[in-house]
Amino acid sequence: GKVGVLFGGRSAEREVSLMSGNGVLAALRSKGVDAHPFDPAERSVAELQAEKFDRVFIALHGRYGEDGSLQGVLEQCNIPYTGSGVMACAIGMDKIFTKRIWQTHGISTPGYAVLNAQSDLQTLAQNLGLPMILKPPHEGSTIGITKVNHTADIQQAYTLAAQFDEVVLAEEFIEGREFTVAILGRGEQAYALPVIEIVAPEGNYDYQNKYFTDDTKYQCPAPLPAELTATIQKMAVDAYRALDCEGWARIDVLVRESDQRPFLLEINTSPGMTGHSLVPMAAKAVGMSYEDLCVEILKTARL
Ligand code: DAL
Ligand code: MG
Repeated sequence: GKVGVLFGGRSAEREVSLMSGNGVLAALRSKGVDAHPFDPAERSVAELQAEKFDRVFIALHGRYGEDGSLQGVLEQCNIPYTGSGVMACAIGMDKIFTKRIWQTHGISTPGYAVLNAQSDLQTLAQNLGLPMILKPPHEGSTIGITKVNHTADIQQAYTLAAQFDEVVLAEEFIEGREFTVAILGRGEQAYALPVIEIVAPEGNYDYQNKYFTDDTKYQCPAPLPAELTATIQKMAVDAYRALDCEGWARIDVLVRESDQRPFLLEINTSPGMTGHSLVPMAAKAVGMSYEDLCVEILKTARL
């Protein structure tokens, strides 16, 4: 049948989505899928319906693509789509609500506070300790994030993050190594791909080092003791199920240097599929090409 690849969109991650979507489109076509591009930022819901897609592959990131709102439109239009449903996407897009759900499931995530314009930033620094991380809870790709080392810098970090969101998430800084885990499948069938270690220049895995430089090094499978790898994979699958995710996702993890304890940072229900992205890298480690991965994800499309 006719497949739509939805990409572009109007979030701050539009540029990333254009790279993901072009990759997915070419991959599906190379596998003989009748795939067509569709940018929801440039075209209307009526036009989406008029395309009469049998199903769509969502390669949008951030708001209006990864946050459940588009998923709701697709439900209304009766168009099967890849990835998680409305609720899991909405929660997954919000780093604060994700942490609340994970905490109730006993899944380890860094300590945090929720800030608004009235918050006393000095008291915050005393409670959470420094360094701390300030981030807008509904963004991706490191947009709006600052590592705060000194009390004097909190205000500026808050102002940056507050440009993107009504509230700001302040998180305890975990000193250690950075990893990511891709999950495929649904419910009891959900499983983790090999863990990837991310070694960014000076530990700074920011927007540039994610998508444009070749200075970030990746190790897949991550060089970790087998037991720790298994623990991280199990935590990630539990965390995926706790949010009722479907199809695929990627969870970002820190392992604390002092005690080797893993902390889950966040989930991406519509992960990057760019040439630098990590779900494709993890798939490759189990012998699944980028093209095969796209076909596998497309197969999971449902309402
Ligand atoms: N938010 C980006 C696209 C990612 O997590 O891959
Ligand atoms: Mg993210």
